[in-house]
Amino acid sequence: MSTVAFDVGAVRARFSALNTPTAFLDGPGGTQVPDSVIEAMATCLREANANLGGPFETSRRADAVVGEAHEAAARLLAASREEVGFGQNMTTLNFALTRALGRELEAGDEIVVTRLDHDGNVAPWLELARDLDLVVRFADLNEEDCTVDVDDLQRQLCGRTRVVAFPWASNAVGSISPVRRIAELAHDAGALAWVDAVHYAPHGPIDVAAVDVDILICSPYKFFGPHLGLFFARREVVERWRPYKVRPSADEPVAHRFETGTLSHESLAGFTAAVEYLESLGWEAIQAHERELGQRFLDGLPVPYRLYGVPSMEGRVPTFAFTHPDRPPEELAALLGERDIATWPGNYYAVEVMERLGLPDGTLRLGFVHYNTRDEVDRVLAALQDLA
Ligand SMILES: Cc1ncc(COP(=O)(O)O)c(C=O)c1O
Repeated sequence: MSTVAFDVGAVRARFSALNTPTAFLDGPGGTQVPDSVIEAMATCLREANANLGGPFETSRRADAVVGEAHEAAARLLAASREEVGFGQNMTTLNFALTRALGRELEAGDEIVVTRLDHDGNVAPWLELARDLDLVVRFADLNEEDCTVDVDDLQRQLCGRTRVVAFPWASNAVGSISPVRRIAELAHDAGALAWVDAVHYAPHGPIDVAAVDVDILICSPYKFFGPHLGLFFARREVVERWRPYKVRPSADEPVAHRFETGTLSHESLAGFTAAVEYLESLGWEAIQAHERELGQRFLDGLPVPYRLYGVPSMEGRVPTFAFTHPDRPPEELAALLGERDIATWPGNYYAVEVMERLGLPDGTLRLGFVHYNTRDEVDRVLAALQDLA
């Protein structure tokens, strides 16, 4: 057990949005933002609201906002500034990146995705396959703990595999994938490692070189920032791609060629503030606190609820999917909502997971992030007991 001090009261004081009776256990769907993010966005709109590259002070400030955001993204992902870029959200970025790659694929090429993926990392491949006559193969999940079945993934690889697309962590059941191992298998097969890090990003550090992935996409609104998408693209991989973009926009830095049109500068300002916020806490403290909350929840989840996924805090983030034998997830979520506890019913676009587990109504999902408290864990456990 880590002994890192974590003052959750002091953390919550940095979020005006948390000054309500609501227990926000809907972090997997999007987190609240600290006041520093709101202030950075307002300051950007007040003082730096111009297009880029103009010969006047406000435009120079806008240039600085965008430059600082790329630097913050590089720090967050342990990448170079040239290899990180922004877009509207993960899904939109993934459609753009997969299409750019598609220009070098041929009919019969194969893509491997997993049953654990959010549809944002499945549908873009299915659409591309439809356009180009590609083959999409699904790596299965291990039913007992809802982790990626790496042996099955290995069986799906062949000489025609061009991409292995997989989640760093599942937004439905919380399991963490062995990212480096899967990237290694992809590379051994001559394929790209294409990672959806949306669900992992609020919970732990990302070092793209350490896990050796080629493309990684995440969404700052899931980690205390504004609505925005962020990606890493390995230079050697994407420098030969021709993105769909307007002609006058620059091809360098390499990732920036995928930033089509004008970005939301105010969101970039908020993103930089979110990264600074995370840096001020440190991952060790965040993870120790999340682990404690997750374990408390696992220890207290009453009968007759059934948990799907890893039954301990080893190899998972504190996102929990469970069902009640009689009450559908929608009913449970509504009853919790009446008690001011925010959770989510259904499939949360993890359609493959729910289909594979035979759950047409999905599950009830709740997730803890570092700003949640022991009291909130106890509150939801008491409510679940009440509704049991
Ligand atoms: C694991 C995962 N991948 C992708 C997405 C899609 O992200 P975005 O809303 O940024 O398109 C989500 C959103 O919930 C997610 O949880």
